[in-house]
Amino acid sequence: MDRKPLKAALAQAAEITDGRVLMALADLSGPIPDAMKYAVSGGKALRAFLVLETSRLHGFAASKAGAAAAAIECLHAYSLVHDDLPCMDDDNLRRGQPTVHVKWDEATAVLVGDALHSLAFALIAQTDCPIEPRLTLTTSLAHAAGVRGMVGGQAADIAAETAEAPLTLDQIIALQAGKTGALIGWSAMAGPRMASAEIGPLSIYGECLGLAFQIADDILDVEGDASAVGKAVGKDAAAGKATFVSLLGLDGAKSRATELVQEACDALSPYGDDAETLKEAARFVISRTH
Ligand code: IPE
Ligand code: IPE
Ligand code: MG
Ligand code: MG
Ligand code: MG
Repeated sequence: MDRKPLKAALAQAAEITDGRVLMALADLSGPIPDAMKYAVSGGKALRAFLVLETSRLHGFAASKAGAAAAAIECLHAYSLVHDDLPCMDDDNLRRGQPTVHVKWDEATAVLVGDALHSLAFALIAQTDCPIEPRLTLTTSLAHAAGVRGMVGGQAADIAAETAEAPLTLDQIIALQAGKTGALIGWSAMAGPRMASAEIGPLSIYGECLGLAFQIADDILDVEGDASAVGKAVGKDAAAGKATFVSLLGLDGAKSRATELVQEACDALSPYGDDAETLKEAARFVISRTH
């Protein structure tokens, strides 16, 4: 299986994700399935890409890993739909479009998130690999998404807004490891898990990438241009959020992100040149404008 450059690989990841979701909802019509498709489409598809690319590295074609790739994008989309709700970040713009609760309404947005979460687990169960790794993928996805992962991190993020003392760097790192790191880390480990292979190198890659990714998100919130970013900027400081930028300053945050990308790339050495697109992805994560 040939390695694609990042741009083509991301486009393929988005196409596979949209295709799987369309297929899963093909017999349905109405606001919930419409808003589900809307919420999943238009993103960078970075997590789906990580699933497909790490699967390719372990001998699984996109046709075999496609369901797992779509599953993580459904989970991610659900987390964004809920993150944007008025009771959370109260955002009107996502991927350059009105958020789901603005385009439809709040009840629809809550239910769309719920339904995408369920769809994610229906999809992961369709991953084309032996039953044991499929079970590992499923259980690890449940942990990454839940109170030990994304949900736990989101709760800590909200609690930090009203905390008496600002968070320490270690606390911010722990918060992000849940909020953003868990789903990105899961995606990076999907390939070796499908193949029942050693997860060590991609676990380190995913951890460094996830952290660099959230630092870049925090930097974009300060320096980014809303029309390019596709979502409101300046929200973190306005909400008194604890971020890498609030703690390290812009320059400190940027140099930490650069170090993490180097660490992520170094971890890929067992894969040799075949991991070049994953390295490109790590560099992209901190150079992106959206
Ligand atoms: C945004 O994630 C939310 C965070 C976890 C920081 P992405 O930047 O991957 O969003 P999309 O999917 O490309 O819109
Ligand atoms: C959201 O983090 C992370 C999840 C949805 C799990 P942010 O609140 O920083 O993401 P944006 O900036 O709205 O995309
Ligand atoms: Mg948030
Ligand atoms: Mg947000
Ligand atoms: Mg953000």
